[in-house]
Amino acid sequence: MKSPITLLLACLLEIALTENVTYHVWNNPIPEKVAGVPGQVFSVPKGSTFGDVMNVAAEQNPTDYRYTYIQYDFGRLFTGIGGVSQDPGNNRYWVLFKLSEEPKAENPPGNKNLTEYGADGTFVENNDIFLFWLTNGSHSSKV
Ligand SMILES: *[C@@H]1O[C@H](CO)[C@@H](O)[C@H](O)[C@H]1NC(C)=O
Ligand SMILES: *[C@@H]1O[C@H](CO)[C@@H](O)[C@H](O)[C@H]1NC(C)=O
Ligand SMILES: *[C@@H]1O[C@H](CO)[C@@H](O)[C@H](O)[C@H]1NC(C)=O
Repeated sequence: MKSPITLLLACLLEIALTENVTYHVWNNPIPEKVAGVPGQVFSVPKGSTFGDVMNVAAEQNPTDYRYTYIQYDFGRLFTGIGGVSQDPGNNRYWVLFKLSEEPKAENPPGNKNLTEYGADGTFVENNDIFLFWLTNGSHSSKV
């Protein structure tokens, strides 16, 4: 049997070595039309990328977070999330935003909130909030 001290240390170690990240998905360019669950929190080991968070999310909640992608040298380009595909014909692409607060339809994120290096190049920290948005806006650069 483990002693209380061992359990306490294991618990503290787990807190020190994991990070909780909130992951939202907006599957429509018009925020009011987004269908699905509100953001969910996932725990990942310290040093993880957002791509790692996506893997954990897809495993724990495949209905809302499963994805399709194309592999490039720089990492994965995500073409579908939660069963909703990009639509290049209508200029709809999955775009990743890092937020400083929970996303709201009346105040959607903009270019300032874009990630620079994509899911596999973005390292996460505890309490980070991310949004993958299928948007047709002009969110193609950070300026
Ligand atoms: C992450 O969330 C879990 C469950 O709410 C909590 O027990 C844990 O302490 C959190 N970890 C950190 C690093 O905040
Ligand atoms: C987007 O970035 C701006 C500027 O950093 C910030 O004030 C705003 O809260 C961010 N929006 C969200 C939804 O996090
Ligand atoms: C994005 O799509 C919506 C709905 O299809 C449309 O109303 C809006 O004008 C489009 N925005 C841009 C920037 O193309």
